[in-house]
Amino acid sequence: MQIIFRNAEAGERIVMASEGDTLMHVALANDIIGIPGDCGGQCACGTCHVYVDPAWVERVGRVEPGSTEETMIFGAPVDARPNSRLACQVNLIAIHDGLIVEIPEGQ
Ligand code: FES
Repeated sequence: MQIIFRNAEAGERIVMASEGDTLMHVALANDIIGIPGDCGGQCACGTCHVYVDPAWVERVGRVEPGSTEETMIFGAPVDARPNSRLACQVNLIAIHDGLIVEIPEGQ
């Protein structure tokens, strides 16, 4: 499947991913700028914050209220939005083929 990462500074990258990958691992494997994933996917650093394209929010799902993911998103130094997710918490499945995410500026 294809995943599209958009970054205000680096532009757009289209990369290949497999079902079962996390969005964060796909970003790291493809040297996507702006997703350092400092904690290795443990939902503990907030450095894999992305904004899911509005057209994809329902398919990806929103952050669960009261979850660790929500705490990390609101504690991150970038703006939290209703379409914010942590890339390490997004497990890719077939319906995510073509997914578009934006990387917050300054991350
Ligand atoms: Fe650290 Fe996602 S990689 S919270």
